[in-house]
Amino acid sequence: MRPARALIDLDALRHNYHLARSRHGGRALAVVKANAYGHGAVPCARALAADVDGFAVAFLEEALELRAAGIDQPILLLEGVFSPDELEQVVRHDLWIVVHHAEQIRIIDHAQPALPLQVWLKMNSGMNRAGFLPHELRAAWQRLKDSGKVGDITLMTHFARADEPHVVTTTEQLTAFDAATRDLPGPRSLANSGAILGWPAAHRDWARPGILLYGADPMPDEPNGLRPVMTLESAVMAVREIPAGAPLGYGARFHAERPTRVGLVALGYADGYPRTAPDGTPVAVDGVRTRLIGRVSMDMLTVDLTDLPDAGLGSRVELWGANIPVNRIAEAVHTISYELLCNVKRVRFEYQG
Ligand SMILES: Cc1ncc(COP(=O)(O)O)c(C=O)c1O
Repeated sequence: MRPARALIDLDALRHNYHLARSRHGGRALAVVKANAYGHGAVPCARALAADVDGFAVAFLEEALELRAAGIDQPILLLEGVFSPDELEQVVRHDLWIVVHHAEQIRIIDHAQPALPLQVWLKMNSGMNRAGFLPHELRAAWQRLKDSGKVGDITLMTHFARADEPHVVTTTEQLTAFDAATRDLPGPRSLANSGAILGWPAAHRDWARPGILLYGADPMPDEPNGLRPVMTLESAVMAVREIPAGAPLGYGARFHAERPTRVGLVALGYADGYPRTAPDGTPVAVDGVRTRLIGRVSMDMLTVDLTDLPDAGLGSRVELWGANIPVNRIAEAVHTISYELLCNVKRVRFEYQG
């Protein structure tokens, strides 16, 4: 059997959730959108179900997958509904919805929900991606109340730069949110992972931790005690010696600087490891750090075993996990851990804990 696999540590997932909740206080929705950031939405939600106050996903189909798997905790749709028929499903499956633009209020106005809707009203406090502007918020809130179809309204916003501790943007967003919501009742929800860890002033009634649940610290310079949840690993399936000066792999990107022992590893970009990873990107072979050499292929990649005489056929190769932080790989390929984790596919997923 091909040895490529993603090991998912569900104890670490629960540990990270509790860490988020205790750092923030109040309640916390576990964000499990995008297949739980690539970790498997159903197994992750099941592992968290007994502990969480609720879940957040991006859209209806993601929530329905969880409901079909027996998850009966509250589930918030972060993008809300796209059409009136989705609102019927929201009621049928007892889901909560974000309302972030006027069309969604119109849909609610025209609906006849059997039960009051649980709405999270989103304000655009400066990210300028989604939500009502400060001067539009009160009217949106009033329209929802006047519709007679809405139960509780939670007030929320989202930060653009909460993972950057030294920029003023988060403080500006906080100030804008507080000013615009001052006279409105209801719980508040502001903090994503970065704000949970780095911005206590943003801690209110509900946190919305995403990436930190999976143990990829959005601010890795200040260790926060998170445990990595995914280990992406495979094994050496062939070894060859190449002389100094010999090219290796597609495009002959790498040339051996010295006689080199090359380990061929059964994992490639079709499994989600980034093709853009440069020579020198760290990998761990049997727990010892070495480097990627040569361009990543679709199903295989190559690593330097020259200084690891004990490594050979069958040696375990960690692409990221406890030894190699996924953030380190993200940095090497100019992206974020979120994207790398979401892209893992085709490998076997094994759940522990
Ligand atoms: C509205 C909202 N809240 C919370 C999160 C979780 O963010 P993070 O993964 O940075 O914790 C996201 C993710 O994109 C989001 O869109």
